Amino acid sequence: MSQPRIKVAVLYGGVSAEHEVSIVSANSVMENLDKEKFEVIPIKISKDGKFDERKIKSSDIVFPVLHGVGGEDGSLQGYCETVGKPYVGSGVEASALALDKVASKQIWQNLGLPIPSFTFFTKDEWQKNSTQIMRKIIPQVFTSEARRFASKMRLEGSANFLPIFVKPANTGSSIGVTKVREKSQIKRAIAEALKYHDKIIIEEALENIREIEVSVLGNSELIISVPGEILPAEEFYTYDAKYKLDSGLVYPAIISDGKTKEIQKIAEVAYRVLGCRGFARVDLFMKKDEGKIFLNEINTIPGFTKISMYPKLMEVSGISYKELLTKIINLALE
Ligand SMILES: Nc1ncnc2c1ncn2[C@@H]1O[C@H](COP(=O)(O)OP(=O)(O)O)[C@@H](O)[C@H]1O
Ligand SMILES: [Mg+2]
Repeated sequence: MSQPRIKVAVLYGGVSAEHEVSIVSANSVMENLDKEKFEVIPIKISKDGKFDERKIKSSDIVFPVLHGVGGEDGSLQGYCETVGKPYVGSGVEASALALDKVASKQIWQNLGLPIPSFTFFTKDEWQKNSTQIMRKIIPQVFTSEARRFASKMRLEGSANFLPIFVKPANTGSSIGVTKVREKSQIKRAIAEALKYHDKIIIEEALENIREIEVSVLGNSELIISVPGEILPAEEFYTYDAKYKLDSGLVYPAIISDGKTKEIQKIAEVAYRVLGCRGFARVDLFMKKDEGKIFLNEINTIPGFTKISMYPKLMEVSGISYKELLTKIINLALE
């Protein structure tokens, strides 16, 4: 007799702005799960957060294929903990930290990991103090180049702090993210970001960079893929560049062995210090000229279609898509 199949509840859709993206990933996951080992129980979460909880109770394990708030942010993980259901991927704390671009960057910064300079404020603070934020807080985000130029020219304090990136602290898919080049555009960019979250992060816009991504798989023993590279179809990796236009995905990226090791080490530390489990994609930037690396973010539930970067990087590391899904589920049952 063969072993009974493990019942996997695949959760998808959800309340976040990435509802549609999640459906595409989940279809791919459900189609490719090894049917000899697993029985799929599809559970769609509506845009207002409703789903059939009885189906969760009839499953052995939950596989959240949800991006952003309500799926990737620790809340669903907390629900699973409460009802005592094993689930795939990172736990409550790591999920919450990874989704929060401020919290994760603060932790990485404390450990001396390389990140772009940034600042943040809440909607409340913005409403009470926008003048001070515009005058003092945002200009702290000097671009490295501007800072270097300023110190060379002894202009400290008066250098141009633009361009900057304005982002909601907890969305994905570049939703609500604006690159601001002119001072007159800052308020509009902040208003746009505030539509999605009441915490805003502002970062120096790094220029002349390559966008590098690394796939990590494991709990304590980790498989770290070779780096891949995104060639965005727009000036930066916008929502359209991700889903509508023909951005390039290069795997593996053409990077020297030395740099590859450095990138993998940074990705590993970034993953471990947030306490990630199972799998995650670590996104980084690499300066084209001197090759300096910056951490951007960790996605604890990265895009998961067959042609997405996460599975593709694992594939070039010798793990097929189907095998990868099995491994991810087994890691959760460990
Ligand atoms: N500090 C930065 N410097 C240069 N480009 C950036 C910076 N922050 C974000 N970007 C660009 O914006 C894209 C989306 O930003 P990101 O922080 O990754 O948000 P999301 O979680 O929505 O993917 C990045 O992939 C990159 O193209
Ligand atoms: Mg990103």
